[in-house]
Amino acid sequence: MATTLRRPHYPVPVPVHEDLDPRRSDGVDDETDEVDDVGVRPLGDSGGTVSDEEEEVEDAVAEDIARFEASFRNITQRYRLINRIGEGTFSTVYKAEDLLYDHYQNEWDLDGDKENIDNISSSTLKQTSSRVQKPRYVAIKKIYITSSPLRILNELELLHDLRNSLNVCPLITAFRHHDQVIAVLPYFQHQDFREYYRDFTVDETRVYMHSLFTALSSVHEAGIIHRDIKPTNFLYSPSKQRGVLVDFGLAEREGTDYHHCTCCVEIPDRQRKIQTSVYATTVNAAFQAGQPVPKPTYPNNDQRSSRRANRAGTRGFRAPEVLLKCTAQNSLIDVWSCGIILLTFISKRFPFFHSADDIDAFIELCCIFGKKRM
Ligand SMILES: Nc1ncnc2c1ncn2[C@@H]1O[C@H](COP(=O)(O)OP(=O)(O)OP(=O)(O)O)[C@@H](O)[C@H]1O
Ligand SMILES: [Mg+2]
Ligand SMILES: [Zn+2]
Repeated sequence: MATTLRRPHYPVPVPVHEDLDPRRSDGVDDETDEVDDVGVRPLGDSGGTVSDEEEEVEDAVAEDIARFEASFRNITQRYRLINRIGEGTFSTVYKAEDLLYDHYQNEWDLDGDKENIDNISSSTLKQTSSRVQKPRYVAIKKIYITSSPLRILNELELLHDLRNSLNVCPLITAFRHHDQVIAVLPYFQHQDFREYYRDFTVDETRVYMHSLFTALSSVHEAGIIHRDIKPTNFLYSPSKQRGVLVDFGLAEREGTDYHHCTCCVEIPDRQRKIQTSVYATTVNAAFQAGQPVPKPTYPNNDQRSSRRANRAGTRGFRAPEVLLKCTAQNSLIDVWSCGIILLTFISKRFPFFHSADDIDAFIELCCIFGKKRM
């Protein structure tokens, strides 16, 4: 069975960053704004924040890291940047060592709990201090400055709301320096999807999907739609059989973009609408006058405003209602994307759908799932 990342239930919110102020403890003159002093729940038994390995870094990445360190005030006093681990559409993600780990409560880190207990017992036995600690790793998500402030705030707020959620990577904290915002998350050790999807057995697929659905159900329970479910946003460790959902950059609260849509109309009402449409009336009139039935036509110059709906997501994973610009989308769009991941495991093809635009994507879906000839 999949391991869910259980977070202990606290009856009252746990205060965070109240123990030690780095400015007092080590004289750091920190002019960086903390965007959201958020409390976080433990990441459960995820592991990954403690590790001995230190990887090799390419020259170009080292230069990028140096530029980032130089541009973001005081970041080097808090974190030691190690490597670039992700470059997405909206951000660059770095692996870093948390240098001030000891100065804060770290409820997000169950590895920490384990090690602290070990240290306490060994220190009582050997009268040694607990200073011999392994480095603690975090993932620093540098959100591109081209993202709108509202979008950045939305991502941080939703992550904060989801801090109790199973299998969701919690936000530790966030900082701003000028127009640059960084989100700090526990580093979660995982394997690239392309390395394992072909080899997964049915049982392994079941465990993966269980873990993914656990994450999704806690997100949906909180009334949030992720909107970008895909393998790169679900960090999974096949050896530990655990995964966490990341990247709430496109997520939204259910109902935010919701408007009435014809697909919500009951079938008899929809049929009545079709029967009383301009085209149906024209066809009827022609039929009764014994004239040939006109073919449907389209206005040359359509004055109506084009239909607007949230299309956020990744190609190949968008649900049909997203492709069709349905204005009444709900959390089911995420379930569709999970289905595409399952299809990838079953078919051993990734990406399964790969069309350039929404029309082609829809035709691909019709070819596979369609029941009538179009
Ligand atoms: N907590 C984490 N631990 C380890 N790696 C992470 C973590 N968070 C993100 N990453 C890595 O960074 C990548 C990009 O992160 P994320 O999806 O949050 O950014 P993004 O810019 O929105 O990406 P994209 O546009 O590709 O979806 C992830 O696919 C993953 O490889
Ligand atoms: Mg992503
Ligand atoms: Zn609709």
